[in-house]
Amino acid sequence: MDFAIALNPTSAHPLHRQLAEELRRIILTGRLLPGERLPSTRSLAQSLSISRTTVTQSYDQLLGEGYLETRHGSGTFVCSQLPDDLLQAKPVDTIAASSASAIQLSPYGIHLAETPFALLPEPQTEINFRYGRPALKHFPVNLWRKLLMRHCRQDRQWLDYAKDSQGYYPLRVAIAQYLARARAVACSPEQIVLTNGTQQALDLVLRILLQPGETIAIEDPGYLSARRVFLSHRANLLPIPVDHSGLRVDQLICETTPIRCVYVTPSHQFPTGAILSLPRRLELLKWAQQTGTLILEDDYDSEYRYGDRPIPALQGLDNSDSVLYIGTFSKVLFPALRIGYLVLPPSLVPLVAYGKWLSDRQLPTLEQRVLTDFITEGHLESHIRKMRSHYDCCRQGLVQALQTHFGDGVTIVGEQAGIHLMVRFSTPLDEAEIIQKAASVGVGLISARPQYLQATSMNEFVLGYGELEEDAIATGIARLAQVLGCKPS
Ligand SMILES: Cc1ncc(COP(=O)(O)O)c(C=O)c1O
Repeated sequence: MDFAIALNPTSAHPLHRQLAEELRRIILTGRLLPGERLPSTRSLAQSLSISRTTVTQSYDQLLGEGYLETRHGSGTFVCSQLPDDLLQAKPVDTIAASSASAIQLSPYGIHLAETPFALLPEPQTEINFRYGRPALKHFPVNLWRKLLMRHCRQDRQWLDYAKDSQGYYPLRVAIAQYLARARAVACSPEQIVLTNGTQQALDLVLRILLQPGETIAIEDPGYLSARRVFLSHRANLLPIPVDHSGLRVDQLICETTPIRCVYVTPSHQFPTGAILSLPRRLELLKWAQQTGTLILEDDYDSEYRYGDRPIPALQGLDNSDSVLYIGTFSKVLFPALRIGYLVLPPSLVPLVAYGKWLSDRQLPTLEQRVLTDFITEGHLESHIRKMRSHYDCCRQGLVQALQTHFGDGVTIVGEQAGIHLMVRFSTPLDEAEIIQKAASVGVGLISARPQYLQATSMNEFVLGYGELEEDAIATGIARLAQVLGCKPS
């Protein structure tokens, strides 16, 4: 079987990742169908004149992402159960690929065409440990509707264009006060620009701050969606390892490459869940100040911390305008709200607000008004308190079930905060086999592998518990242990 695969050996993007992206595109556009066999690593390596290790690494990545599966002794195949949403993506991808060849593209467009977009596959199982979702069924929809109706009836101002490209002022006041109380963030409402979630916040600041080819240091493993934004701005990525205390600031500091900015998730490192220790926070800030490096602090789910008192946000410890703080309501309320915020050094505010206006003019006014009431009337903090105790029960149930059923056969990390934790299973099975066996008993697992850039991941999974109730968690882990053949020690 011959594939027309173009790899660029001079690209900053490693060959194995380029190959994995090409193969993913071939699968998504239907040139390889579910159940079809892939060439052996040896023959594909020969036909592309690349090393066999490169091909093996690409296959491993796609196995981890659920695109491929291995059948003992007979090779590697396109996964026979690709999730529906991926299959539905096929026509769009085909259109994009064909029109990309006919219409001339900008460098940005070329980058997008070279790295076709696909959401990571998510399990479609009865008990789904997918991550990144809060407990939507506990969201107070009736209250939200009441607030919506109140504003719909009040006047018709919200139907008009907003005058303020930074976002609705009363909402910025409410957020500034909330951040001071909950996260020790020191800011005025004038320093806040409201954005369409973290995703747009990152995109906007990079448009304004980054020259193509400049270096962004990132956590490895780290948040894939942020990495995609950085690459779209043609950043040079510098992966910095992470340990149980978060980013290895010592390794960052001894780097000789000039670094434009560092992207960190200090309250709950994604995906390992490590919390950046106070000494490291201070060390990072000192270094940023001395070198003039900017810190992009993504504080995506800091509200959920169990046990210890929260460590203040980096922004609140900074006195040199080195930190750009990013927050979101995707985890504490619901992701489709699409409201997040940037807390910026004052000098950057007009530019970012202008960039926001150019990009999409404004956020919807009605939702901003409703959210303002939701915060100022105390509903946000009471919802957070309620959900913190709910998630804490789920988290304890998950940890206990893992310990009971797997004993020493599992390592649990990052369970002190957030709405997911990470596990490493010690088993002779590989990741794809674990995912398949879990799916066969209705349990959905997602590998941590796509979040890794250079560091290696072995049988690691990110277990989200935000959407699950305690009984489903207990049943899911019991089924998993049974099917993986684990006996507690
Ligand atoms: C590390 C991290 N940051 C931010 C977000 C939220 O992104 P957004 O605000 O664009 O929904 C997520 C969501 O999963 C995340 O994992």
